[in-house]
Amino acid sequence: MSAVVPKHVAIIMDGNGRWAQQRGLPRIAGHEAGSKSIERCVQACLDTGVQYLTLYAFSSENWKRPALEVNALMLLLENFLNQKRDEMVREGIRLHHIGRIQELPSVCQRKLREVMDATAANTKLHFVLALSYSGRAEIVDAVKSLVRDTAAGTVSEADITPELIGSRLNTAGMPEPDLLIRTSGEMRISNFLLWQLSYTEIHVTKKFWPEFEKADFLAALEDFQSRSRRYGGV
Ligand code: FPP
Repeated sequence: MSAVVPKHVAIIMDGNGRWAQQRGLPRIAGHEAGSKSIERCVQACLDTGVQYLTLYAFSSENWKRPALEVNALMLLLENFLNQKRDEMVREGIRLHHIGRIQELPSVCQRKLREVMDATAANTKLHFVLALSYSGRAEIVDAVKSLVRDTAAGTVSEADITPELIGSRLNTAGMPEPDLLIRTSGEMRISNFLLWQLSYTEIHVTKKFWPEFEKADFLAALEDFQSRSRRYGGV
């Protein structure tokens, strides 16, 4: 692809439940099918040269779902990490997480740590899972850390800049997303990367996440390439 490839693509993977419901299947069947869409998008990133892929896999609000669904999602995450570990190591994919992972079951925390350690030297694709994540909670945590440092005298009011705030977010060191994709047609940000999406181009498709194919990912990249990004300038 000769046109500019976004460095960082973020995705709100929506519509798993409705996809399953339409087929008379349990909601978790939609999440399972959604895992396959993740595989297709990772491959599309490797093929096109996208360097960061951030997925909204489990929001802070998702804890309100029935325990059966939450447990199934956690098991799906664990299985996904078990199955993909060696492939990630081999393909140059580095795993990261954002969100309050201390809230996840300890088995998931251990597995995430293991795969992050195993892939720490990889640089081809940074694969970022947002887990127990909320943009507001992330900003709250960043503000608390700045207040602590201000009280300790290591940060002064004049030091507080967008860059300093950015450095206290879970995404510190990562580029901001160039493109946000949302499936299932909803026109919302849903508490995802509130700070980081300030100048991100948004692509919404009506397709449910389990139906999202590599061609849909490529269509989103093409849509991105047709935009003129002015960052508030002319
Ligand atoms: C939104 O669909 C999707 C989720 C809340 C979870 C996303 C999880 C996966 C795609 C699979 C598991 C993740 C990994 C990393 C293996 P929804 O349930 O809100 O759909 P609905 O709006 O139609 O009900």
